[in-house]
Amino acid sequence: MSRTIQAPRGTFDVLGEQALARERLEADARRILERAGYSRIETPTFEATELFARGVGESTDVVQKEMYTFADDGDQSYTLRPEGTAPVCRAYLEHGMHKLPQPVKLWYLSSFFRRERPQAGRYRQFWQVGAEAIGSDDPAVDAEIVLLLAELLEAVGTKGVRLRIGSLGSPEARVAYREQLQGYLRAHEAELSAEVVSRIDLNPLRAFDADHPGTRRVMERAPRLLDALAPEDAEHFAEVLAFLDAAGLAHEVDTTLVRGLDYYTRTVFEFTSDALGAQSGVGGGGRYDGLIEQIGGPHTPGMGFAAGVERMLMAAGAQPTAPVPLDLYVAYAGASHRAAAFRLAADARRAGHAARLELGGRSLKGQLKQADRSGARYVAILGDEGTSLKDMETGEQRTVEPDTVMHHIRGDL
Ligand code: HAM
Repeated sequence: MSRTIQAPRGTFDVLGEQALARERLEADARRILERAGYSRIETPTFEATELFARGVGESTDVVQKEMYTFADDGDQSYTLRPEGTAPVCRAYLEHGMHKLPQPVKLWYLSSFFRRERPQAGRYRQFWQVGAEAIGSDDPAVDAEIVLLLAELLEAVGTKGVRLRIGSLGSPEARVAYREQLQGYLRAHEAELSAEVVSRIDLNPLRAFDADHPGTRRVMERAPRLLDALAPEDAEHFAEVLAFLDAAGLAHEVDTTLVRGLDYYTRTVFEFTSDALGAQSGVGGGGRYDGLIEQIGGPHTPGMGFAAGVERMLMAAGAQPTAPVPLDLYVAYAGASHRAAAFRLAADARRAGHAARLELGGRSLKGQLKQADRSGARYVAILGDEGTSLKDMETGEQRTVEPDTVMHHIRGDL
C-alpha cells in the first residue's frame, strides 16, 4: 500500500459540529452587518503580489516572510491573499465605487493564507469575518466598526473579551515620532533583544510587541506616539472614544498598541480573549486613510475590522448544537423494494422532511438498529406484506398505503 496523504501542516478539515458552529457564526455576521448597511463582497483567492507589497507594506512580517507567492502568465507574480483589506480597496477602485454614496460598506467571510508557524489558534489557512467602510473619515465610522465587532463577538459567545484602542495619527507625525523612537532605542541598544535591534531601522514600533524582558523594561519608559499626535488627530481620537462611551462599550486606551500591518493611520484597535492561549487576538482593525493612494487611487479614507473565525469559536468554547431531527427513516426487506424505498425517501425530502434511507447494504435487522440509533420520529418498512409505519415516540406500528406515508408523518391521517 502506498503512503497515506495528509492535509498540509497548519490546515484543517471542518467536520460535523464545527461545520454547524461556523454556519451559525456566518448567520450572526450576516444579520449584524447587513442590518448596519454592509453588503457582502467576494474577491479572488489570489491577487497580484504587488497589491500586498504596496498595500500591506514591505516591512511587515506578512509581506517579508508569510506570503504564498507563485508565478503565472510568464513573469506575473501572484499571492494567496494574506488579508482582506487591500483586496477590498482594489475592488473599490476597480469598480468605481467612489461614485456610490460614501462610505461604501462591505463585509466578507473568506479564507486567508499566511506561512506562520502553526500552533493552537494559528493556522496557515484560516477564515476571517471582515467589514470595511470606505470613503469617510468621520470618527462615528470608527466607532461603528468597533461596535459591530463587539456585537459579533457577543453573538458568537466569545468569552473574556477585552478591547484595547489607540491612535497612530498621521503619517507625518509618525515619521517624526519614528525618528524620536529610533533615537531612544539606539541609546538603549545594549538592553534590547537582538531581533529588536536588527529592526530599529525598518520597524522600530514593533519593539512595543516584544516579549524579551530587557526590551519590555526599556519600552515602559519609551516615548509614546499618542503624546506626539497632531491636534486634529488627537481630536479625532477623542471623538471616537466619546462615541464608544456614548454606546456604553468598555475599552482601554493603549498607547503602545501596534498592529502587524503597515496601512494604519489614526484609530487602531484589538479585541483579545483570555479564553485563548498565546494567540489571544480574536479580531482587530483600524483606519487606513492612505491605503487606496498606496495602491494607485485618489486619497480615500477607510476603516475596518477583521476577526478570526477559528479564534472566535475557540474563545466561545464548545457549544453543542442540536443535529437536524430526522423525521423519517426508510427501511426495506430485500432488493426488490429498494427502488420504492429510494423514491419514498426522495419524495419525503422534496416535501420538506428530513428523511434517510439505508445505503450501507445492511439486512433489515441491521437497518432497524440504525433507524433506532438515528433518533428518527418515524420508520417506514417496505416489504412483501406492504408498507408499515412505526411511530418511534409511541411505539405504535401500523400498515399503511405506501403513498399515504407523508400524510401520516404530517399528522393528516
Ligand atoms: P489581522 O490582525 O492581521 O488584521 O487579522 C485579524 C484576525 O485574523 C486576528 O485577530 C486573528 O483572529 C485572525 N488571524 C490572523 N492570522 C491568523 C492565523 N495565522 N491563524 C488564525 N487566525 C488568524 C487583518 O487581517 C486586517 N485586514 C484587519 C482590518 C480590516 N483592518 C482594517 N480592516
